Amino acid sequence: MSPGGANSPRPRPQGGVRLAARPDAGAAGHDPPTEAALTTTLLATDGLTVRFGGHVAVDAVTCAFRAGELTAIVGPNGAGKTTYFNLISGQIAASAGRVSLMGEDITRLSVAERCRRGLGRAFQLTNLFPDLTVLENVRLVIQARERKGFGLLSTAASHSGITTAAEAVLDRVRLADRAGSKVSELSHGNQRKLEVAMLIALDPRVYMFDEPTAGMSVDEAPVVLDLIAELKHDSDRTILLVEHKMDVIRTLADRIIVLHNGALAADGPPAEVMASDVVQEAYMGKALEDV
Ligand SMILES: Nc1ncnc2c1ncn2[C@@H]1O[C@H](COP(=O)(O)OP(=O)(O)OP(=O)(O)O)[C@@H](O)[C@H]1O
Ligand SMILES: [Mg+2]
Repeated sequence: MSPGGANSPRPRPQGGVRLAARPDAGAAGHDPPTEAALTTTLLATDGLTVRFGGHVAVDAVTCAFRAGELTAIVGPNGAGKTTYFNLISGQIAASAGRVSLMGEDITRLSVAERCRRGLGRAFQLTNLFPDLTVLENVRLVIQARERKGFGLLSTAASHSGITTAAEAVLDRVRLADRAGSKVSELSHGNQRKLEVAMLIALDPRVYMFDEPTAGMSVDEAPVVLDLIAELKHDSDRTILLVEHKMDVIRTLADRIIVLHNGALAADGPPAEVMASDVVQEAYMGKALEDV
């Protein structure tokens, strides 16, 4: 169970951790991004909010994600992390606020259009074709990417060129030996690796991973985590990672943001966010270690 129920206290500012403006300050209370940030900001949300009936699941979240940075998004169960992702990727519509990708307002665009512009949310099983093979699923993503004209292969790229590219991706996620298997025949861990493979095949500017190793065995999880670490080396991309496991965050994150009751509660370098007594107590101690 999460320690961060609805009655948990909101953390107060401490040390070097910047605690976010209260959402009830409204969008007008947010500082505009600096010029320096604008040059490297790939993704930004401004006052992003969604209400389900009377419940505010994401509450005026203003945050910018820069190129070359891996941001871990943490918070207790039900804090709004997945819903925040759904708003960014377009799976659900915002009640208020804005999402921008490379400076363009994408708030009203479809999931497919956001994807075409470089927003990459890890595929989920529901996005896969269970009766097609692993290789065929990855090929479909590469084909779609090439048709949209932002891939590397020329239009003359043959069937075999796309197959070779798909095989290379499967190799990276250690799924080459399952290339001919139907998705429905894969183990849970391999299905999750395939989700990551599909995202890599899409080649987005913004990678979004929501608990990418959930349900994976201790043998399988490092493959996915190593891949995410590799993706970090690309300074043109930004990575958003929802993760509960403290050791994973310590290893990978350049920055941590904390969501609590849908609102941005803290934002800062990992060491500072983790060392903050209030954040430690409210979120990290139990919320992360228990999982
Ligand atoms: N479609 C929906 N309709 C109504 N309420 C929703 C909907 N989606 C999410 N919620 C509610 O919004 C809140 C945030 O849920 P969300 O799944 O984003 O949390 P989370 O931080 O991802 O939690 P976890 O760590 O358990 O994955 C929860 O109270 C949830 O019940
Ligand atoms: Mg979630």
